[in-house]
Amino acid sequence: MNKKTTLSLGSFFILTSMYKILLRPLLFLFDPEAVHHFTFKLIRFTHSLGFGGLFRNLYQVKNKSLERQLFGLTFPNPVGLAAGFDKNAMLFKELSNMGFGFIEIGTVTPKAQPGNDQPRLFRLKEDAAIINRMGFNNGGVEEAVERLKANPKTGKKHVLIGGNIGKNKITLNENAVNDYIICFEALFDYVDYFVVNVSSPNTPNLRALQEKQPLTDLLQTLQDKNNLREKRKPILLKIAPDLTNEQLLDIIDIVSETKIDGVIATNTTISRDGLKSDNKDEMGGLSGRPLTKRATEVIRFLAEKSHKAFPIIGVGGIHSAKDALEKLDAGADLIQLYTGFIYEGPKLIKDINQAILTK
Ligand SMILES: Cc1cc2nc3c(=O)[nH]c(=O)nc-3n(C[C@H](O)[C@H](O)[C@H](O)COP(=O)(O)O)c2cc1C
Repeated sequence: MNKKTTLSLGSFFILTSMYKILLRPLLFLFDPEAVHHFTFKLIRFTHSLGFGGLFRNLYQVKNKSLERQLFGLTFPNPVGLAAGFDKNAMLFKELSNMGFGFIEIGTVTPKAQPGNDQPRLFRLKEDAAIINRMGFNNGGVEEAVERLKANPKTGKKHVLIGGNIGKNKITLNENAVNDYIICFEALFDYVDYFVVNVSSPNTPNLRALQEKQPLTDLLQTLQDKNNLREKRKPILLKIAPDLTNEQLLDIIDIVSETKIDGVIATNTTISRDGLKSDNKDEMGGLSGRPLTKRATEVIRFLAEKSHKAFPIIGVGGIHSAKDALEKLDAGADLIQLYTGFIYEGPKLIKDINQAILTK
């Protein structure tokens, strides 16, 4: 190996390990929500200095074999960013430079809302997990639309966007459908697929909308709106990992009845089984390592019992390439990361894509 190769391999190693060795220990000293905002600024700043190309070189894996065709869309690779990180569509371009094949924005609600009081985001370091009770803090759907206008509609620079939609806290469940319609109509021209979120544990009573009748009504109403369009957009349902097998069988029936395009499994859990961290009893939804097994079980159950009747996006506790491959083996067509991205950094995206290629 000549000196130049050794040098570039060395700098590559430093840059790819920089997050876990240098940056993460520092970031994890501070309040998680403050760090979230700081990281946004840091990512923005590095891009404003022209480091976008460097990120692309370091983390993107370009290979035709990674492409996935699903519900009429071509995903450049199957590793996406899960909802909740870029709620307000502020960083989709920069995050795609880090190697994600698609970015899910939201959950957005019709009107801007502040979410729950702080502190509302907790790191469970010993468990490689997060508890959050953000409560759909977001700038409202119109603000997201304004930002998404910067995304080219087609071509190489188009970032594939999922629009994750929900209801405002003050909206009663009996009127919830209107909130979903408002978000659906506003985002229609600016996202590639929709996600109906009825599974967050942090909006009071939201998960009651997962019951068979209200959920069928909600999805059917959105489908009716969708079918009025010249070209419909894929609609997916995001479900909680805490559903019973009976409820999961209901979900399979509802997907078939309403003919929606797929399911995202799963959102955060209200379970606290087997946790070690001192702050494990904080209220909210748990994500990360403790969710890995249950989310995979849900994916496998849906895939097997439906005889793979619809696409599944697998999410929950993916912290390594092995975790990602397990989700894909269980029946997921695409996968998404959130907590694993926080703990492992952008190199995880590359590791997963490379593992998929060498499988
Ligand atoms: C801080 C935080 C905020 C989240 N916000 C949302 C949200 O607004 N909408 C949503 O559908 N899921 C949200 N999620 C759930 C994630 O999208 C994902 O389904 C869940 O965290 C499991 O994946 P993970 O273990 O990789 O984090 C959030 C998760 C976290 C940690």
